[in-house]
Amino acid sequence: MSSSCPFLEVSDNSSNNTAADHNFSFTARLETQNTLSITMPSFLITGSSRGLGLAFATELLKTPANKVIATARNTAGSAGLQALATKYTKNRLVLIDLDVTNPTSIKNAVVEAEKHLPDGLDNLISNAGIATDPLASFDNLDLDDLKKEVEFNTTTPINIIRGFLPLIRKGNAKKILVVTSQLGSIEIGFHMVNLSNAYSVAKAALNMLIRKWSPVLKSEGITAVLIHPGWVGDTDMGSSIADWVAQNAPDLRSVPEEESAEGCMKVLGKATLEDAGLFYNFDGTKIPW
Ligand SMILES: NC(=O)c1ccc[n+]([C@@H]2O[C@H](COP(=O)([O-])OP(=O)(O)OC[C@H]3O[C@@H](n4cnc5c(N)ncnc54)[C@H](OP(=O)(O)O)[C@@H]3O)[C@@H](O)[C@H]2O)c1
Repeated sequence: MSSSCPFLEVSDNSSNNTAADHNFSFTARLETQNTLSITMPSFLITGSSRGLGLAFATELLKTPANKVIATARNTAGSAGLQALATKYTKNRLVLIDLDVTNPTSIKNAVVEAEKHLPDGLDNLISNAGIATDPLASFDNLDLDDLKKEVEFNTTTPINIIRGFLPLIRKGNAKKILVVTSQLGSIEIGFHMVNLSNAYSVAKAALNMLIRKWSPVLKSEGITAVLIHPGWVGDTDMGSSIADWVAQNAPDLRSVPEEESAEGCMKVLGKATLEDAGLFYNFDGTKIPW
């Protein structure tokens, strides 16, 4: 049996299943007397307390086959995650505390995630992000802010990917989606004058990190892709540049969270090894380096 749903991978050793056989609630692995074996596609998201991370979790949970591990620094304190947890069973949604800047927290989160992922992790979504004073010019840029942003966007993804790699290797889809920004594009950065200067430098470093790592990951069947989610003016980070956009780029559309999340998850779903190391916009078009 095969499925047309890109997120649903089904293997079925039985030749005489009927429609009724499919009327079941999914479990991480469902074994029936017909030796029907189903593995739920799994997704682990960092920084899902609010904003885009929460929107990704919400979007993925719309597909009944998906299992989502939503991580955040403080899952109990996230109203959005708690609301999702009342809606979905623990089989569909698992909440795990994870501070991406803390190696011990990463280690503990990997151990916890492993308990829920007997078949490994299919998709890792590195989304957590920070942005210091987005309107600081080069004259008054705080160098500690610059260091903080560069450190966050380089050491954090390395620790997160290294930490979850054993689970990804064990998974089926073997995909890593890294949320970056078009501000990290050398080409586009030139045109967004005095906007998010430290952030742009840091995201450019993140882009190179994934660009350099992706062929290595590809050689073992893992697809790592960079994505720009659009300007999402509803999130805390996105709204912080609303004044700059109004004055300098009034035609730039604020992409609703749901639209961005749907687009980003579509890009992830469609990504194959051929996409390793590419830089995508949320709408599936490519972004120049
Ligand atoms: N919004 C946009 O227009 C836009 C455009 C381009 C790229 N992006 C990128 O999209 C991603 C999400 O941005 P957003 O707009 O959703 O921002 P946001 O609303 O400010 O949310 C940031 C998220 O990152 C989490 N986070 C920060 N530090 C963390 C840490 N040490 N450990 C774990 N989680 C941490 C936050 O968790 P807490 O609640 O614990 O603080 C929060 O969930 C970022 O990588 C950002 O750079 C956004």
